[in-house]
Amino acid sequence: MKIKFNKTIILFFVISYCSAQTIIPIETKDFAMVFKTDNQNRLWNIYFGKKLSDISDYKDIDGQYYFPSSNAGMYNAAYTPSGTWNLSEPALQVKHFDGNLSTELHFVNVNTEVNNEETITKITLTDPVYKLKVVLNYKVWSNLNVVEQWTDITNNEDGAIELNKYASANLYFTNKDFYLTHFQGEYLKEMQPVEEKLTQGLKTIESKLGTRAMLLGTPNFIVSFENHQSEDEGLVLLGQLAWSGNYKIDFEIDSYKNLRLIAGINPYESNYYLKKDETFKTPSLIYSISNKGTGLASRQLQSWAKKYRVLNGEGDRLTLLNNWEATYFDFNETKLSKLIKDTKDLGLDLFLLDDGWFGNKYPRNNDDAGLGDWEENRKKLPNGLGYLVKEAKKSKVKFGIWIEPEMANPESELFKNHPDWIIKQPERPEKLYRNQMVLDVTNPEVQDFIYDVVDNLFTQNPEIAFIKWDCNAVIYNAYSAYQQQKGIPQTHLYVDYVLGLYKVLERIREKYPKVPMMLCSGGGGRADYEFLKYFTEFWPSDDTDPIERIFIQWNYSYFFPAITMDCHVTNWGNQPIKLKVDVASMGKLGFDVDVSHMNEKDLEFTKTAIKNYNRFKNMVLHGEQYRLSSPYKNPFASLMYVHNNQSLAIMFNYLSSNRFMERMTKRPIKLKGLDANKKYSVKEINLYPGVKSTLNELIVYSGDFLMTVGVNPEVDTKRTSVILLIEEVN
Ligand code: DGJ
Repeated sequence: MKIKFNKTIILFFVISYCSAQTIIPIETKDFAMVFKTDNQNRLWNIYFGKKLSDISDYKDIDGQYYFPSSNAGMYNAAYTPSGTWNLSEPALQVKHFDGNLSTELHFVNVNTEVNNEETITKITLTDPVYKLKVVLNYKVWSNLNVVEQWTDITNNEDGAIELNKYASANLYFTNKDFYLTHFQGEYLKEMQPVEEKLTQGLKTIESKLGTRAMLLGTPNFIVSFENHQSEDEGLVLLGQLAWSGNYKIDFEIDSYKNLRLIAGINPYESNYYLKKDETFKTPSLIYSISNKGTGLASRQLQSWAKKYRVLNGEGDRLTLLNNWEATYFDFNETKLSKLIKDTKDLGLDLFLLDDGWFGNKYPRNNDDAGLGDWEENRKKLPNGLGYLVKEAKKSKVKFGIWIEPEMANPESELFKNHPDWIIKQPERPEKLYRNQMVLDVTNPEVQDFIYDVVDNLFTQNPEIAFIKWDCNAVIYNAYSAYQQQKGIPQTHLYVDYVLGLYKVLERIREKYPKVPMMLCSGGGGRADYEFLKYFTEFWPSDDTDPIERIFIQWNYSYFFPAITMDCHVTNWGNQPIKLKVDVASMGKLGFDVDVSHMNEKDLEFTKTAIKNYNRFKNMVLHGEQYRLSSPYKNPFASLMYVHNNQSLAIMFNYLSSNRFMERMTKRPIKLKGLDANKKYSVKEINLYPGVKSTLNELIVYSGDFLMTVGVNPEVDTKRTSVILLIEEVN
């Protein structure tokens, strides 16, 4: 309450000090973004950077810059409208109730509320001609330098209006050079970073896939100011649009070489109609700001995610054995019972039954039939799921199950009984993706159906302890029979699909608030901070080759904490089991293997490594992550997690490239995040049976030494993976 009082006073002071012009600072612990009105009450973004110690100094910032509006009209509007004198990329495009396309926004008021660690500032703008209200929302976690920003657009006009672009956020930066890192991809090649210097004009990253934000691109980005992105230096903004469908993020360098950033739902085929008195709430742009490079920015965002966003983000996670790569669709009760026993023998927490357990008239023996028919396949599972749940219970492991409830194969009872539930053009040939099509989640009946898929599973088998929720198809031939019938414009489909899905998830979480659920999307197509309100974790990629995973997990780590990342050991890649298990141990550990194919020593190693993981997982899941040696810049990848007041840490080191000259760590790798004044032992763990560490483990190092000189993990072609446990010595 005390803070609230102070803040209110501060704002009042600033506002009354410059009675003609309002100054609105949005501050975090270290940074500020400042808005100022002009004499016509339009609101301008005048500053983004280090916070000033005296709040009254902000009013003088814009006087130091000379950026007249040039021919393009407005560059630094707080929320750029269109149709009047703005000729740069807009944040908002509206067709008013009378068909007019012009919008202006004037400042009305500002309001700040403090709730514990969160401060929300709401800035209200209205059009002086049309009764259109826009509220810009800034939610700040000051200590973490994390901001969540979204916009509410309310139609108070005399009839319906059409939103043609409705961004979540509009930012403006006046630095001189900007580098953008964005993440491109493909199936099996998710999250590949590309850094480019932004030049005058527009660079857009976007998705039009409908059901999945990620895959070809992702709504994650890093803007680094002045210089290339660096792990420990420089001002960076690391952000994500938290929206699980089509997104569009525009990075526009204006004629003064300043950067305009506009992020939101992709307006592609998505004009959204608002009836009188309706409000549209955009998704959020979430970003972390750091002046010590991407390392700190990631740690801030990861801490925020664990503490405030991800479902059970500070809780535990279940290790598991998944049958997918061990059996694919070819299984029966005997095979699965054996895998359940293996789960127990390995020392894992849960057995996860993947695709292929359902469908009778159209049995799911391949990916071309049965999807949508969620009853147990009687041939494969004559005693139903209940039998497997009991088997799991007998073995003292938990039981989880795979579903893909938003999709159907044309060869399914669901598809044949409810053709109107499928997204497809009525007059055009069907276009399948992985032999399946997408259900129309805008339709409340479909929402009920999806909810029931989950609810029935839990009602019939209350001991189900985990769900893997897959989504393999994109939306082709976007057309909703439901919306057509209800007179809802077809351009609502992409948006209402995602909103419909959130509604279902909301209902599921009301009834089942805690059950862990994994997001999966034909590899890594779904992982964003809106979905992660409902899900505990996500599947980063079907590519589980450990070398590829070092890179993939590295890239996800910019935005996501290890606790959200499902990392499985599989038969992908012909590297040693140790490398596979060590790489998977950097996230939430799982296995997709048939134990009967493992040799004795591999099995012995794996069991010990799982025990070790259970001992150190707190560090990985709840610790602070430091990226030490990038596999993009070095032949060695190295990263660590620090936990327990800097008294415990774990360091993962890999030979990530096998070029002749670079096959051993010749130099030490500097550690980070330790206490310089503490003493630490460094011991190697997860050694393969019969192998001794080459390190001298008797040395006691100071934190200062480890962070200044470093330690050489002695990675080489025989020691391609080295895990070091760093413990405080008293
Ligand atoms: C795609 C997922 O990425 C896999 O892990 C597996 O669940 C299959 N779908 C099942 O069809």
